[in-house]
This record gives sequence, structure tokens and C-alpha cells, in this order.
Amino acid sequence: MDSKSLGVGAVLGAALVSAAAAYSQSTKTETTAQNLSGLQRNEVHSTATPSQKFGVVPTGQPTDTFDTTKQGPADPILGVALAYKAETRKDKVDGGVGAYRTEEGLPLVLNVVKEAEKRVLQELNEGKRNLEYLGQAGDDAFIKATRAFLFGADCPRVKNDSICTVQALSGTGALRLGGEFLRRHRPCAVVMPNPTWGNHFNIFESSGLPTGEYRYFNKKTLGLDLEGMLADLKALPKGTCVVLHVCAHNPTGVDPTPEEWQKILNVVQENKLLPFFDSAYQGFASGDVDKDAYAVRLFEAAGVEMLVAQSYSKNMGLYGERVGALSIVTHSKETAARVLSQMMIIVRANYSNPPKHGVAVAATILSDPALLKQWKVELKGMVDRIAAVRKGLRAELERINAPGSWEFMTKQIGMFTFTALTKDMCEKLAKEHAIYITSNGRISLAGLKMSQLPKIAGAIKDVMGPKL
Ligand SMILES: Cc1ncc(COP(=O)(O)O)c(C=O)c1O
Repeated sequence: MDSKSLGVGAVLGAALVSAAAAYSQSTKTETTAQNLSGLQRNEVHSTATPSQKFGVVPTGQPTDTFDTTKQGPADPILGVALAYKAETRKDKVDGGVGAYRTEEGLPLVLNVVKEAEKRVLQELNEGKRNLEYLGQAGDDAFIKATRAFLFGADCPRVKNDSICTVQALSGTGALRLGGEFLRRHRPCAVVMPNPTWGNHFNIFESSGLPTGEYRYFNKKTLGLDLEGMLADLKALPKGTCVVLHVCAHNPTGVDPTPEEWQKILNVVQENKLLPFFDSAYQGFASGDVDKDAYAVRLFEAAGVEMLVAQSYSKNMGLYGERVGALSIVTHSKETAARVLSQMMIIVRANYSNPPKHGVAVAATILSDPALLKQWKVELKGMVDRIAAVRKGLRAELERINAPGSWEFMTKQIGMFTFTALTKDMCEKLAKEHAIYITSNGRISLAGLKMSQLPKIAGAIKDVMGPKL
């Protein structure tokens, strides 16, 4: 296990101890902050010296300049996007960032989004909407619609209000809100699949939680390592939070089958683990929004407590609008209400309240049957194009006899294909062929054009050499 991984079982016992320490540290920080604001409020009567009142927390860093700030490393995924942008060769290929492009290589704004946006702006012009602040929890219409979209309108816990949902700054913001809630109110270690979306570790570590990994991907079969996964989950201390990708696992494109999800649920229940589902691709995996929600609905129906982060970046193409939500699924309406009160405190301290426009568009689509229908058709169009690229790339690699079997490529689903290309090979792809993919061998199929596939397949064969 690498240093990132606190491992499983006994080692995570120590992680839980440090989670408790992180929690107590956070409590201390709050107490210090409260004391400081108390000092400032009572300044007139205070006998404290200025340095006692305003002295900084000792960090070992200089306190009088920015000049010593060190250069930070580029984000592994966004860094690829920057390198692609800076590339001047005309035949460059964008297989890095997970963003959908048309066959012409252009970003896509869905027609249904344009229509919903028109309605929102019209309502604004007619005075039916305004630009006042939202409450901390966000837009009520969006919250209701997104919860029903995820859990299904007939879900009993949706109906009896035992799910606390707050609007979030897309999937990333939802994960971060969840991380912060856990640190403050239910401290625990957070374990993630190996591999996982690069930002997961970043988010939970920044939330002050200890992190670890569980086995997920079998490098030999390029499929799910169910046995390893279940063994690692069984070895975790009770109460550990387990991040699960709802569908279209990023970066592997490998999802559990319904039977495998049932086995994972059994271990979660036996071991009293806390699932934290990440739903960044609902509808984007199979083209069917209900089918893609299978795992969340299975776990919900089993009555477990859990968290779910939702994103509309990919499935509605609302990337920059930052549209998402966090749902905390509890056992009762009363608990959900208390959780909401704490979520509102967290939101208030971070950004006060969320933005309005993107969620108004999403809520308009989700709550109008005709727009919903139109969206599903356009969503399926994106999914079908990615599937065609996936099939086309495999066919091209096989046609030119690139070494090894490429069958895995069409077994994987979602936006990406996770190849066995090494870091060096990925670097060579960029340097020698102007093909940009992440250094873990992940290719974003959604950014490729069919016309580029012969070039990409040829370059892959070239960087692989005669054999792997
Ligand atoms: C697995 C996973 N979770 C969450 C996100 C969050 O994306 P956003 O913050 O744009 O919603 C992404 C985006 O790539 C992702 O792949």
C-alpha cells in the first residue's frame, strides 16, 4: 500500500483515532475563533495586549510576506487540459478532461438547456423570478426535483422527508460539504476505490478526514476485483465511510453488476459502514437515468444511512454552471431536520448561499415532462456518440494489430477508457503525437472525433513498442 493508503482493517483503526483527533482539532479551532471574536467584540473592556488579541496561529511560515509562497503542482487532470491548450500542432487530440465534445470537437450546449434558459430569463423579465439571495440550502424547486430524480419520486424516505438535500457547487462542492459535515458531526476515515477520480483524495483530505483505499480494479482482467473489494470492506472498522461511484466509474469505466452491488450492500450492512455515493454520471453510463441510479436506490431501499453527491456537469452539460446537490439519507424526518440545520451552518461559513441561475435551468428541465423527455433524448445522443467512439477505437487498434487484447475497451462504460498505458507511454503520446490523456492511461472518449481514431490507434501502437 502506498502512503496515500492507510490500508484497511487494523491500519484504519489508527485512521479513526486520527479522525477523532482531527475533529478535536477542529473543535479547538472553532473555540479559538470564538474566543477571538469574543475578544474583538469586547475590545473596549479587554485588558489583552494587541499581540494577545491579534497574534497569528504559529505555522512556521513567515508572517510578513507572500514572497516565500512555494509554487504548487498542477492538478493531474486540469494540468493535461492546460498542456493541450498550449499545444500548437494542428492535429492535436484532447483525451484528457472529461468533457463532452461534438464530432466537430466543439463543446455542446443542449437544446433543452437553451429552451429552459429562455424560460428562466422570460420569467425574470416578467417579474416571476428575481435575483435575491437563495437560502443556505438552495433553490427549493431544484432540491425537490433533484431528490426525486435520484431516488425516484415514490421513494418512501423522499415522501416522509427523511432525506436532507442541499444544493451544492456541483459534484465537487457536494463531496466537500459532505466531507465537512462528517468531520464536524460524524468523524470517520474515508476509503475510496483504487483507482478513483483524482480529486477525491484532495477533497476528503482538505476536509480534514483520514483517507484510505480499497481494492477495486483488477489489472490482469481489467475488470472489477470483487473479491479484493469485499475482503477490504469486511476488514474496515465499523462506521468507516466508503466512497462508491454510482455508475460509470471514473477512471476505469468498470461498474459492479446488480448481483455484485447486492454483495457490496451485504458487507456494508454487516460491517455498519457508511456509503458516500458519488453520482457524477446519472444517465451518462447507459443512457437510461433510472437504470444508472440502481445502486443508490438499492441501498436506500435497504434502509441504510448514506450520503449522495450529485452533479449535472456531464449529463446536462452544465459544467461551468456548477449545478449539484448533496443528500444525506437518515432514518427519520427529525434527524434530517437537525442535519439540515448543521448543513446550513457549514454553507453559511463557506459561501453563505449558492448561486441561482444553473439550478433554475436544471429544475425547469427536471420538473417539466416535455423538457424531461427532450433531455433524455439528447442525453442518449451523447451516450451513443461516446459508445461509437469506444467501439471505433477498439476496432482500429485491432485492425492495425496493436499488441494485446482490446476487448476490455467495449466492456467498460461511461466517458472514459482505462488502458494499461504507462506514464511514460502517456508522456510519449503527448510529446511525439500531440495526444493528451491523463498519466494513468485514462482516455476521455467524449473528447475524441471519429476521424481522429486512426491517428490515435497508430500512436498507441507506436508508444507501446513491439510488446507490452
Ligand atoms: C467521479 C466524479 N465525481 C465528481 C466529479 C465532479 O464534477 P463536478 O464538480 O464538475 O460536478 C467528477 C468530474 O469529473 C467525477 O468524475
